[in-house]
Amino acid sequence: MRIGRWLCALGCVVLMAVFFLPSFSAGQDEQTLRGVQRVRVRTMKSISRAMRRVKVYTKKANYKRVAAAAEEIALLSAAIPYLSPKGSAFGKTRIKNEVWSRFDDYTKIARDSAQIARGLAKAAQAKDKSAVLKTFSALSDSCTQCHKPYRKKKRK
Ligand code: HEC
Repeated sequence: MRIGRWLCALGCVVLMAVFFLPSFSAGQDEQTLRGVQRVRVRTMKSISRAMRRVKVYTKKANYKRVAAAAEEIALLSAAIPYLSPKGSAFGKTRIKNEVWSRFDDYTKIARDSAQIARGLAKAAQAKDKSAVLKTFSALSDSCTQCHKPYRKKKRK
């Protein structure tokens, strides 16, 4: 009789584990995806700040700093696809679902953007002002190229 009750309790625990474990791990997945989203938005902000630095230091002809900022943009831009996994659109996010129906295109734009940023770093290392200005403008265009199809307009 006592063993019967014990077995029943054990059965209950096993059943609970079977039913609830998947939802526990699903909860963890969601937490991870929410974290990834936060990192994505922060990364964008860092890219944006580095762009401002490029502008400021180009004016001051401090090409060492321009190159450093451009290298940072290259690194961060290359990470964008990895910071945009499916299911990472939470809350006030502005990422569009089209990202996941055209992920190859999204990835390509991020890679192109990173490459332009590397070109900017090279132009800065060569202290070639006209190349710096030209590449900076191309880099700005590459932001728009991704934002237009893949980022929702800001809600006011
Ligand atoms: C491959 C795509 C892609 C590229 C390239 C890209 N972005 Fe973004 N950006 C996004 C997406 C998607 C969001 C929306 C993220 C979200 O809300 O989850 C975003 C959001 C932003 C934001 C808003 C962040 C906030 O506070 O909510 C800024 C600022 C930004 N990007 C700047 C830039 C700049 C500057 C560049 C170019 C140097 C750039 N981005 C290049 C995809 C891209």
